[in-house]
Amino acid sequence: MHPAEPIFKGDAAMSAKYKHFRLETDRDGLVWVTMDKQGASTNTFSKDVMEELSALIDDLVAMKPRAMILRSGKDSGFIAGADVEEFKAARSVDDALAIVRRGWDTFNKLAAVPFPTVALVRGFAMGGGLEVTLACKYRIAVDEPATRFALPEVMLGILPGWGGVMRLPRLVGPTAALDIMLTGKTVDARKAKRIGLVDAAVPPRVMENAARMMALEAPPQKKLPLKERMMAGPLKGMVANMARKQVAKRARPEHYPAPYAILDLWQKYDGDPFAPPAGSAASMATLASHPTTANLIRVFALQERLKSLGKESDFTAKHVHVIGAGVMGGDIATVCAMRGLTVTLQDQNAERLAPAVKRAHDLVRKRVKDKYRARDTMDRLIPDVAGDGIRRADVIIEAIFENLEVKQNLFAEVEAKAKPTAILATNTSSLKLADISKKMKDPARLVGIHFFNPVPQMMLVEIVKGDATRPELAKDAAAFVRQIDKLPLPVKDAPGFLVNRVLGPYMANAFRLIDEGIAPETLDKAAEQFGMPMGPIALADTVGLDICAAAGKSLAGADAKPPACLVKRLEANKLGKKSGEGFYRYEKGKAVKGQAGPVTDDLIERLIAPYLAEARKTVDEKIVADAELADGGLIFGTGFAPFRGGPMHYLAERGRA
Ligand code: NAI
Repeated sequence: MHPAEPIFKGDAAMSAKYKHFRLETDRDGLVWVTMDKQGASTNTFSKDVMEELSALIDDLVAMKPRAMILRSGKDSGFIAGADVEEFKAARSVDDALAIVRRGWDTFNKLAAVPFPTVALVRGFAMGGGLEVTLACKYRIAVDEPATRFALPEVMLGILPGWGGVMRLPRLVGPTAALDIMLTGKTVDARKAKRIGLVDAAVPPRVMENAARMMALEAPPQKKLPLKERMMAGPLKGMVANMARKQVAKRARPEHYPAPYAILDLWQKYDGDPFAPPAGSAASMATLASHPTTANLIRVFALQERLKSLGKESDFTAKHVHVIGAGVMGGDIATVCAMRGLTVTLQDQNAERLAPAVKRAHDLVRKRVKDKYRARDTMDRLIPDVAGDGIRRADVIIEAIFENLEVKQNLFAEVEAKAKPTAILATNTSSLKLADISKKMKDPARLVGIHFFNPVPQMMLVEIVKGDATRPELAKDAAAFVRQIDKLPLPVKDAPGFLVNRVLGPYMANAFRLIDEGIAPETLDKAAEQFGMPMGPIALADTVGLDICAAAGKSLAGADAKPPACLVKRLEANKLGKKSGEGFYRYEKGKAVKGQAGPVTDDLIERLIAPYLAEARKTVDEKIVADAELADGGLIFGTGFAPFRGGPMHYLAERGRA
């Protein structure tokens, strides 16, 4: 990643002492420290790496260099943070605290060295990877899309205890720091420069020079603007309280204690994780022993597992062709274009393509901040009424109306035109692959790539392997899904696959409870109390009541009697949010809700039971390979309360209790 510069004089004797770091002293007396964790493709701060860094800092202090520059030797990025495996393996709270202590002490030592220190960041700097840069005096970011900064600890139920809570607010001010720490969101190089997280954002070709200049000049540190100093000083309590209110809108303290702990630690203990007394909500010990923490670490592991399913093939696509520019096809095309792919988008005529292109503009404007990159993204999205893209595409995704015969004819046509190596995929929700491929010469070429609505927000994509689907094709499809940064989940070709299969009975039951006279507001509140991000009735309104009715029919059979509350609204053309009214009335896109009734444990149980029962059935029937994948799929596909670690895990825990 970093071409060795001829000016470097390798300090072989010094480097030989270390396994994970290389030291080189250049002619200006600057020491370049390259972190290159042995035997790993990614840099992480495991115990031995942290101990080595601590020893290395002692050596540097003895060497008295003019300055030190820290960089990564990995192509994958800068540093991914702590070794989550070690945290997972921590047997006791003391083990967890030892991990915090190691990083806290080491980074404090780094922050105290008497010479200038510069972190040169190319690629991701996550968690501890960002905190080590905060302990340096200066930071240079390489301005390319892969460079991203984040403190994702909150998503694991812990807090940035290696100096993040202390140093980030001092560097960028409380507003930006709390935003980063409480959400775990990532910041790119340009934003990092804008908020003062880095001193410069530079193109790759000048990165080493920029780091060298910074180290040699050692300019005075910038002061925070007065407003931010006030917020970190006399107004600190008010700022913390306002932030607590914001957090409370998204997360209950009993479910998610970490963001509250971060706020306490910043407000009352200036970010020192060892300052809060035992038993305090801000203490690492309290967090580490909270069940949410273990479950969120489990969710992280589930996500890694889903990601790994995309690594079983090295398929990469350059060109995707999407047929059907409706709700799904239009957004699938835009997401692919935003991930750098060339996309041709086909529909019956130009009028039908126009709304999708307009939606693409809106989404790209919102998501791609750089105007040149936004323009390039839109240039890659090509309207194609004639379907010329079919011949060139590596992946062809069909997202037309849910009509079997039309899909059959379409695939016969597509198969004849497509490259022999192309993935032919359907986004069908309810039709069987074996039926769709009836008119194809080689049904083994068809796979299901089932996206969820809204495509830009939903992480999960089901990979449907029909009985005839070539197994390698399903792996290629999973690799493609990773390429566009989604999480692939292989599922069996059975009605509803995983996600809709489980949502079906859950929603049908909720409609029945409404027919029994329980208010929508009460049901939604019950689901939220359990920890769902959105209640079933709000979800139905969002998805569309027509779609819910169709899905219910396809799962329960056409003869099953639909719930009266649904029929009544459909007859009145109340389709949910999209028509302005469903179970709720919408004003400017927001539901107008009445008062919820009392929520009892019994009601929560009645509401959630069908969800849990169906999840168990999907595992028994091997819709997914195992219970862990059912948990991953249902958390990322339906938002099942992440702090409970997934429905199957929740059932198992309940069984144990
Ligand atoms: P939609 O009705 O919004 O869009 C379908 C589009 O396909 C229309 O623009 C139509 O003009 C076009 N089309 C129809 N026949 C065509 C043909 N022969 N050639 C080219 N274009 C053609 O439908 P939506 O909701 O986007 O659904 C599409 C597919 O995705 C369906 O199979 C559906 O089951 C599936 N799906 C839908 C989800 C949803 O929430 N809407 C979620 C997941 C999958």
